[in-house]
Amino acid sequence: MLSTTIPALFQQRFGYAPLVVRAPGRINLIGEHTDYNNGLVLPAAIAKEIIFAIGLNGTALVRLLAHDPNEWYEVTLANVQPVSVQWANYLLGVVAQLQQRGVEVPGFDCVFGGDIPMGAGLSSSAAVECGLAFALNELLSLGLDRLALAKLGQAAEHQYAGVQCGLMDQFASLFGQPGQVVRLDCRSLDYAYFPFDAARYHLVLCNSGVKHALASSAYNTRRQECAEGVAILQRPYPTVASLRDATLAQLAACRPTLGEVVYQRCRYVVEENERVKQACTALMTNDMNAVGQLLYASHAGLRDDYAVSCPELDKLVALATDRPGVLGARMMGGGFGGCTLNLVEAAHVSNFIEGMAADFLAFYQRELEMYQTTIVGGVSVARQAELVQ
Ligand code: GLA
Repeated sequence: MLSTTIPALFQQRFGYAPLVVRAPGRINLIGEHTDYNNGLVLPAAIAKEIIFAIGLNGTALVRLLAHDPNEWYEVTLANVQPVSVQWANYLLGVVAQLQQRGVEVPGFDCVFGGDIPMGAGLSSSAAVECGLAFALNELLSLGLDRLALAKLGQAAEHQYAGVQCGLMDQFASLFGQPGQVVRLDCRSLDYAYFPFDAARYHLVLCNSGVKHALASSAYNTRRQECAEGVAILQRPYPTVASLRDATLAQLAACRPTLGEVVYQRCRYVVEENERVKQACTALMTNDMNAVGQLLYASHAGLRDDYAVSCPELDKLVALATDRPGVLGARMMGGGFGGCTLNLVEAAHVSNFIEGMAADFLAFYQRELEMYQTTIVGGVSVARQAELVQ
Protein backbone atom coordinates (compact mmCIF):
# COMPACT_ATOMS: atom_id res chain seq x y z
CA MET A 1 0.00 0.00 0.00
CA LEU A 2 1.74 3.15 -1.22
CA SER A 3 0.07 5.40 1.31
CA THR A 4 2.00 3.60 4.04
CA THR A 5 5.14 2.81 2.02
CA ILE A 6 5.87 6.40 1.03
CA PRO A 7 5.82 7.90 4.57
CA ALA A 8 7.83 4.89 5.85
CA LEU A 9 10.42 5.42 3.12
CA PHE A 10 10.63 9.08 4.05
CA GLN A 11 11.10 8.32 7.74
CA GLN A 12 13.77 5.75 6.93
CA ARG A 13 15.68 8.04 4.57
CA PHE A 14 15.45 11.34 6.41
CA GLY A 15 14.81 10.32 10.01
CA TYR A 16 11.89 12.58 10.80
CA ALA A 17 8.12 12.48 10.40
CA PRO A 18 6.69 13.96 7.19
CA LEU A 19 3.49 15.70 6.25
CA VAL A 20 1.57 13.26 4.03
CA VAL A 21 -0.55 14.53 1.16
CA ARG A 22 -2.57 12.67 -1.47
CA ALA A 23 -3.22 14.07 -4.95
CA PRO A 24 -5.63 12.32 -7.34
CA GLY A 25 -5.57 11.90 -11.10
CA ARG A 26 -8.70 12.67 -13.10
CA ILE A 27 -11.16 11.48 -15.67
CA ASN A 28 -13.07 13.88 -17.89
CA LEU A 29 -16.65 12.92 -18.67
CA ILE A 30 -16.84 15.34 -21.59
CA GLY A 31 -15.39 18.67 -22.76
CA GLU A 32 -12.06 17.87 -24.36
CA HIS A 33 -9.66 20.55 -25.66
CA THR A 34 -12.20 23.14 -24.60
CA ASP A 35 -10.35 24.38 -21.50
CA TYR A 36 -7.71 26.43 -23.30
CA ASN A 37 -10.48 27.82 -25.52
CA ASN A 38 -12.23 29.41 -22.53
CA GLY A 39 -14.84 26.67 -22.73
CA LEU A 40 -16.54 24.10 -20.49
CA VAL A 41 -15.17 20.87 -19.05
CA LEU A 42 -16.73 18.18 -16.85
CA PRO A 43 -13.98 16.25 -15.04
CA ALA A 44 -13.74 14.39 -11.73
CA ALA A 45 -10.90 13.29 -9.46
CA ILE A 46 -10.41 9.51 -9.27
CA ALA A 47 -9.01 7.05 -6.77
CA LYS A 48 -5.68 6.80 -8.53
CA GLU A 49 -3.36 9.00 -6.61
CA ILE A 50 0.12 10.28 -5.95
CA ILE A 51 1.18 10.16 -2.29
CA PHE A 52 3.68 12.73 -1.02
CA ALA A 53 5.71 12.58 2.17
CA ILE A 54 7.34 15.93 2.67
CA GLY A 55 9.11 17.99 5.33
CA LEU A 56 11.32 21.05 5.75
CA ASN A 57 14.99 20.09 6.18
CA GLY A 58 16.58 23.31 7.44
CA THR A 59 19.04 23.47 4.53
CA ALA A 60 19.05 25.23 1.15
CA LEU A 61 18.52 21.95 -0.67
CA VAL A 62 15.54 20.34 -2.35
CA ARG A 63 15.97 16.57 -2.02
CA LEU A 64 13.58 14.48 -4.06
CA LEU A 65 13.05 10.74 -4.16
CA ALA A 66 10.76 9.23 -6.77
CA HIS A 67 9.54 5.88 -5.46
CA ASP A 68 9.07 4.53 -8.96
CA PRO A 69 11.58 4.72 -10.65
CA ASN A 70 13.67 4.58 -7.48
CA GLU A 71 15.54 7.78 -8.41
CA TRP A 72 17.06 10.61 -6.45
CA TYR A 73 17.41 14.23 -7.45
CA GLU A 74 18.75 17.13 -5.45
CA VAL A 75 19.33 20.77 -6.22
CA THR A 76 20.02 23.96 -4.29
CA LEU A 77 17.16 26.41 -4.14
CA ALA A 78 19.24 29.16 -5.69
CA ASN A 79 19.66 27.01 -8.77
CA VAL A 80 16.16 25.80 -9.65
CA GLN A 81 15.74 25.50 -13.43
CA PRO A 82 14.38 23.00 -15.96
CA VAL A 83 16.47 19.82 -16.01
CA SER A 84 16.74 16.72 -18.15
CA VAL A 85 15.10 14.49 -15.50
CA GLN A 86 11.47 14.77 -16.57
CA TRP A 87 9.82 13.71 -13.30
CA ALA A 88 11.88 16.27 -11.37
CA ASN A 89 10.67 19.05 -13.67
CA TYR A 90 7.07 18.74 -12.49
CA LEU A 91 8.25 19.38 -8.93
CA LEU A 92 10.90 21.98 -9.69
CA GLY A 93 8.37 23.81 -11.87
CA VAL A 94 6.17 24.28 -8.79
CA VAL A 95 9.10 25.52 -6.70
CA ALA A 96 10.03 27.96 -9.46
CA GLN A 97 6.46 29.28 -9.60
CA LEU A 98 6.45 29.95 -5.87
CA GLN A 99 9.83 31.66 -6.15
CA GLN A 100 8.53 33.80 -9.02
CA ARG A 101 5.67 34.87 -6.75
CA GLY A 102 8.19 36.04 -4.17
CA VAL A 103 8.01 33.07 -1.81
CA GLU A 104 11.35 32.26 -0.16
CA VAL A 105 11.04 28.48 -0.47
CA PRO A 106 13.19 26.84 2.22
CA GLY A 107 14.95 23.49 1.79
CA PHE A 108 12.64 20.47 1.83
CA ASP A 109 12.69 16.71 1.43
CA CYS A 110 10.08 14.88 -0.59
CA VAL A 111 9.36 11.23 -1.33
CA PHE A 112 6.51 10.59 -3.73
CA GLY A 113 4.91 7.77 -5.66
CA GLY A 114 1.53 6.54 -6.75
CA ASP A 115 -0.62 4.36 -8.94
CA ILE A 116 -1.61 6.79 -11.70
CA PRO A 117 -0.29 5.21 -14.88
CA MET A 118 2.00 7.61 -16.73
CA GLY A 119 1.14 8.74 -20.24
CA ALA A 120 -2.34 7.25 -19.94
CA GLY A 121 -4.19 10.55 -20.04
CA LEU A 122 -5.11 10.45 -16.33
CA SER A 123 -3.09 13.56 -15.47
CA SER A 124 -0.35 12.10 -13.35
CA SER A 125 1.66 15.27 -14.02
CA ALA A 126 -1.10 17.56 -12.72
CA ALA A 127 -1.40 15.37 -9.61
CA VAL A 128 2.34 15.74 -8.98
CA GLU A 129 2.21 19.51 -9.45
CA CYS A 130 -0.91 20.03 -7.37
CA GLY A 131 0.20 17.69 -4.59
CA LEU A 132 3.48 19.50 -4.12
CA ALA A 133 1.90 22.95 -4.40
CA PHE A 134 -0.68 21.95 -1.78
CA ALA A 135 1.96 20.43 0.53
CA LEU A 136 4.23 23.48 0.39
CA ASN A 137 1.24 25.73 0.91
CA GLU A 138 0.51 23.76 4.10
CA LEU A 139 4.08 23.53 5.35
CA LEU A 140 4.82 27.19 4.73
CA SER A 141 1.33 28.49 5.68
CA LEU A 142 1.20 30.47 2.46
CA GLY A 143 -2.58 30.86 2.53
CA LEU A 144 -3.03 30.21 -1.20
CA ASP A 145 -6.52 29.01 -2.12
CA ARG A 146 -7.18 25.98 -4.32
CA LEU A 147 -7.70 28.04 -7.45
CA ALA A 148 -4.35 29.77 -6.96
CA LEU A 149 -2.73 26.35 -6.49
CA ALA A 150 -4.35 25.04 -9.68
CA LYS A 151 -3.07 28.03 -11.67
CA LEU A 152 0.36 27.58 -10.16
CA GLY A 153 0.40 23.93 -11.25
CA GLN A 154 -0.72 24.91 -14.74
CA ALA A 155 2.06 27.52 -15.01
CA ALA A 156 4.59 24.89 -13.87
CA GLU A 157 3.38 22.60 -16.65
CA HIS A 158 3.75 25.41 -19.20
CA GLN A 159 7.23 26.42 -18.15
CA TYR A 160 8.85 23.19 -17.00
CA ALA A 161 7.05 20.50 -19.00
CA GLY A 162 6.51 22.52 -22.17
CA VAL A 163 2.80 21.70 -22.51
CA GLN A 164 0.60 24.74 -23.04
CA CYS A 165 -2.25 23.02 -21.20
CA GLY A 166 -5.52 24.51 -20.00
CA LEU A 167 -6.65 24.48 -16.37
CA MET A 168 -8.80 21.33 -16.36
CA ASP A 169 -6.39 18.75 -14.96
CA GLN A 170 -5.07 20.82 -12.09
CA PHE A 171 -8.56 22.06 -11.29
CA ALA A 172 -9.97 18.52 -11.19
CA SER A 173 -7.19 17.24 -8.96
CA LEU A 174 -7.76 20.06 -6.46
CA PHE A 175 -11.53 20.54 -6.66
CA GLY A 176 -12.76 16.94 -6.91
CA GLN A 177 -15.68 15.90 -4.71
CA PRO A 178 -16.61 12.27 -3.95
CA GLY A 179 -19.28 10.92 -6.29
CA GLN A 180 -19.57 14.10 -8.36
CA VAL A 181 -18.29 15.50 -11.62
CA VAL A 182 -17.49 19.19 -11.70
CA ARG A 183 -18.37 21.54 -14.54
CA LEU A 184 -15.77 24.25 -14.83
CA ASP A 185 -16.41 27.29 -16.97
CA CYS A 186 -12.87 28.12 -18.03
CA ARG A 187 -13.87 31.68 -18.99
CA SER A 188 -15.49 32.82 -15.73
CA LEU A 189 -13.90 30.08 -13.57
CA ASP A 190 -17.35 29.42 -12.10
CA TYR A 191 -17.93 25.79 -11.27
CA ALA A 192 -20.76 23.51 -10.24
CA TYR A 193 -20.98 19.89 -9.13
CA PHE A 194 -23.24 17.29 -10.71
CA PRO A 195 -23.90 13.91 -9.09
CA PHE A 196 -22.78 10.80 -10.92
CA ASP A 197 -24.89 7.75 -10.07
CA ALA A 198 -22.06 5.32 -9.35
CA ALA A 199 -24.41 2.65 -8.02
CA ARG A 200 -25.94 2.21 -11.48
CA TYR A 201 -23.21 3.32 -13.86
CA HIS A 202 -19.48 2.84 -13.95
CA LEU A 203 -16.77 4.68 -15.82
CA VAL A 204 -14.30 2.11 -17.06
CA LEU A 205 -11.01 3.12 -18.66
CA CYS A 206 -9.36 1.09 -21.40
CA ASN A 207 -5.68 1.90 -21.84
CA SER A 208 -4.67 1.85 -25.50
CA GLY A 209 -1.09 1.29 -24.35
CA VAL A 210 -0.02 4.06 -26.68
CA LYS A 211 1.81 6.48 -24.39
CA HIS A 212 1.13 10.04 -25.26
CA ALA A 213 3.76 12.73 -24.83
CA LEU A 214 1.85 15.95 -25.15
CA ALA A 215 4.91 18.22 -25.32
CA SER A 216 6.14 16.54 -28.46
CA SER A 217 2.69 15.89 -29.84
CA ALA A 218 0.41 18.14 -31.80
CA TYR A 219 -1.20 19.42 -28.57
CA ASN A 220 0.51 22.80 -28.79
CA THR A 221 -0.22 22.88 -32.53
CA ARG A 222 -3.93 22.48 -31.79
CA ARG A 223 -3.74 25.46 -29.46
CA GLN A 224 -2.15 27.50 -32.21
CA GLU A 225 -4.75 26.42 -34.77
CA CYS A 226 -7.53 27.56 -32.43
CA ALA A 227 -5.79 30.91 -31.86
CA GLU A 228 -5.46 31.29 -35.61
CA GLY A 229 -9.18 30.61 -35.98
CA VAL A 230 -10.03 33.26 -33.39
CA ALA A 231 -7.80 35.84 -35.11
CA ILE A 232 -9.62 35.25 -38.41
CA LEU A 233 -13.09 35.27 -36.83
CA GLN A 234 -12.33 38.54 -35.06
CA ARG A 235 -12.08 40.45 -38.32
CA PRO A 236 -15.79 40.29 -39.09
CA TYR A 237 -16.82 39.53 -35.48
CA PRO A 238 -14.72 41.70 -33.11
CA THR A 239 -16.56 40.42 -30.01
CA VAL A 240 -15.21 36.89 -30.48
CA ALA A 241 -12.45 36.84 -27.87
CA SER A 242 -12.14 33.03 -27.89
CA LEU A 243 -13.84 30.05 -29.50
CA ARG A 244 -16.22 30.07 -26.54
CA ASP A 245 -17.81 33.15 -28.06
CA ALA A 246 -18.05 31.78 -31.62
CA THR A 247 -21.13 30.23 -33.22
CA LEU A 248 -21.42 27.60 -35.95
CA ALA A 249 -23.02 30.21 -38.21
CA GLN A 250 -20.03 32.54 -37.81
CA LEU A 251 -17.68 29.67 -38.55
CA ALA A 252 -19.63 28.75 -41.66
CA ALA A 253 -19.50 32.37 -42.86
CA CYS A 254 -15.71 32.48 -42.40
CA ARG A 255 -15.05 28.99 -43.76
CA PRO A 256 -13.19 30.13 -46.91
CA THR A 257 -10.79 32.39 -44.95
CA LEU A 258 -10.33 29.92 -42.12
CA GLY A 259 -9.33 27.15 -44.49
CA GLU A 260 -10.59 23.62 -44.05
CA VAL A 261 -8.26 22.45 -41.27
CA VAL A 262 -8.71 25.44 -38.97
CA TYR A 263 -12.44 25.43 -39.72
CA GLN A 264 -12.71 21.81 -38.58
CA ARG A 265 -10.70 22.44 -35.40
CA CYS A 266 -12.97 25.38 -34.52
CA ARG A 267 -16.16 23.52 -35.37
CA TYR A 268 -15.19 20.70 -33.03
CA VAL A 269 -14.57 23.11 -30.13
CA VAL A 270 -17.85 24.98 -30.62
CA GLU A 271 -19.79 21.71 -30.82
CA GLU A 272 -18.00 20.19 -27.83
CA ASN A 273 -18.95 23.13 -25.63
CA GLU A 274 -22.59 22.51 -26.58
CA ARG A 275 -22.20 18.85 -25.71
CA VAL A 276 -20.93 19.72 -22.22
CA LYS A 277 -24.03 21.85 -21.64
CA GLN A 278 -26.26 19.04 -22.89
CA ALA A 279 -24.44 16.48 -20.73
CA CYS A 280 -25.05 18.60 -17.62
CA THR A 281 -28.76 18.80 -18.41
CA ALA A 282 -28.85 15.05 -18.99
CA LEU A 283 -27.06 14.38 -15.69
CA MET A 284 -29.60 16.49 -13.83
CA THR A 285 -32.43 14.39 -15.24
CA ASN A 286 -30.38 11.19 -14.90
CA ASP A 287 -30.71 10.58 -18.64
CA MET A 288 -27.57 8.50 -18.97
CA ASN A 289 -28.45 7.28 -22.45
CA ALA A 290 -28.21 10.87 -23.61
CA VAL A 291 -24.84 11.26 -21.85
CA GLY A 292 -23.63 8.14 -23.63
CA GLN A 293 -24.67 9.44 -27.04
CA LEU A 294 -22.78 12.66 -26.33
CA LEU A 295 -19.65 10.64 -25.56
CA TYR A 296 -19.84 8.91 -28.94
CA ALA A 297 -20.37 12.26 -30.68
CA SER A 298 -17.42 13.74 -28.80
CA HIS A 299 -15.21 10.90 -29.97
CA ALA A 300 -16.25 11.37 -33.58
CA GLY A 301 -15.39 15.06 -33.35
CA LEU A 302 -12.02 14.40 -31.71
CA ARG A 303 -11.22 11.81 -34.37
CA ASP A 304 -12.50 13.52 -37.52
CA ASP A 305 -12.38 17.27 -36.88
CA TYR A 306 -9.83 17.76 -34.16
CA ALA A 307 -7.60 14.87 -35.29
CA VAL A 308 -6.20 13.94 -31.88
CA SER A 309 -7.21 10.27 -31.81
CA CYS A 310 -5.16 7.31 -32.99
CA PRO A 311 -6.05 3.91 -34.52
CA GLU A 312 -5.89 2.10 -31.16
CA LEU A 313 -8.28 4.56 -29.50
CA ASP A 314 -10.68 4.36 -32.45
CA LYS A 315 -10.53 0.58 -32.29
CA LEU A 316 -11.29 0.58 -28.55
CA VAL A 317 -14.32 2.79 -29.09
CA ALA A 318 -15.48 0.58 -31.96
CA LEU A 319 -15.05 -2.53 -29.78
CA ALA A 320 -17.09 -0.96 -26.98
CA THR A 321 -19.92 0.29 -29.19
CA ASP A 322 -23.10 -1.81 -29.04
CA ARG A 323 -21.72 -4.10 -26.36
CA PRO A 324 -24.44 -4.92 -23.78
CA GLY A 325 -24.72 -2.26 -21.10
CA VAL A 326 -22.43 0.23 -22.84
CA LEU A 327 -24.04 3.66 -23.09
CA GLY A 328 -21.13 5.53 -24.64
CA ALA A 329 -17.39 5.61 -25.17
CA ARG A 330 -14.77 8.08 -26.31
CA MET A 331 -11.08 8.85 -26.17
CA MET A 332 -10.24 10.93 -23.13
CA GLY A 333 -7.73 13.67 -22.35
CA GLY A 334 -5.23 15.23 -24.71
CA GLY A 335 -5.26 12.29 -27.10
CA PHE A 336 -2.63 10.71 -29.37
CA GLY A 337 -2.84 7.69 -27.05
CA GLY A 338 -3.92 7.15 -23.47
CA CYS A 339 -7.30 5.76 -22.45
CA THR A 340 -10.85 5.55 -23.65
CA LEU A 341 -13.63 6.34 -21.20
CA ASN A 342 -16.55 3.92 -21.24
CA LEU A 343 -19.90 4.55 -19.61
CA VAL A 344 -21.19 1.12 -18.63
CA GLU A 345 -24.21 -0.07 -16.64
CA ALA A 346 -22.95 -1.50 -13.35
CA ALA A 347 -24.59 -4.87 -13.95
CA HIS A 348 -22.67 -5.31 -17.22
CA VAL A 349 -19.22 -4.19 -16.09
CA SER A 350 -17.67 -7.63 -15.59
CA ASN A 351 -18.93 -8.85 -18.97
CA PHE A 352 -17.66 -5.66 -20.54
CA ILE A 353 -14.20 -6.13 -19.08
CA GLU A 354 -14.05 -9.76 -20.13
CA GLY A 355 -15.32 -9.09 -23.63
CA MET A 356 -13.08 -6.12 -24.28
CA ALA A 357 -10.03 -8.00 -23.02
CA ALA A 358 -10.74 -10.94 -25.31
CA ASP A 359 -11.47 -8.85 -28.40
CA PHE A 360 -8.47 -6.60 -27.87
CA LEU A 361 -6.17 -9.57 -27.39
CA ALA A 362 -7.51 -11.21 -30.53
CA PHE A 363 -6.93 -8.04 -32.55
CA TYR A 364 -3.63 -6.75 -31.18
CA GLN A 365 -2.12 -9.88 -29.63
CA ARG A 366 -1.46 -8.03 -26.40
CA GLU A 367 -3.24 -7.57 -23.08
CA LEU A 368 -5.64 -4.69 -22.59
CA GLU A 369 -5.17 -2.83 -19.31
CA MET A 370 -8.42 -1.57 -17.83
CA TYR A 371 -9.22 0.47 -14.75
CA GLN A 372 -12.49 0.84 -12.89
CA THR A 373 -12.74 4.33 -11.50
CA THR A 374 -14.16 5.70 -8.28
CA ILE A 375 -14.78 9.43 -8.02
CA VAL A 376 -13.07 10.89 -4.96
CA GLY A 377 -12.28 14.17 -3.27
CA GLY A 378 -9.48 16.49 -4.39
CA VAL A 379 -5.96 16.92 -3.00
CA SER A 380 -5.84 16.70 0.79
CA VAL A 381 -3.67 15.93 3.75
CA ALA A 382 -3.82 12.15 4.16
CA ARG A 383 -5.37 11.32 7.51
CA GLN A 384 -3.92 8.57 9.67
CA ALA A 385 -7.02 6.45 9.13
CA GLU A 386 -6.38 6.45 5.38
CA LEU A 387 -2.76 5.47 5.93
CA VAL A 388 -3.37 2.28 7.87
CA GLN A 389 -5.78 0.55 5.55
C1 GLA B 1 -4.61 17.68 -21.43
C2 GLA B 1 -4.41 19.09 -20.90
C3 GLA B 1 -5.75 19.70 -20.48
C4 GLA B 1 -6.79 19.57 -21.59
C5 GLA B 1 -6.83 18.15 -22.12
C6 GLA B 1 -7.73 18.02 -23.32
O1 GLA B 1 -5.04 16.82 -20.41
O2 GLA B 1 -3.53 19.09 -19.81
O3 GLA B 1 -5.57 21.05 -20.10
O4 GLA B 1 -6.56 20.50 -22.60
O5 GLA B 1 -5.55 17.67 -22.48
O6 GLA B 1 -9.04 18.28 -22.95
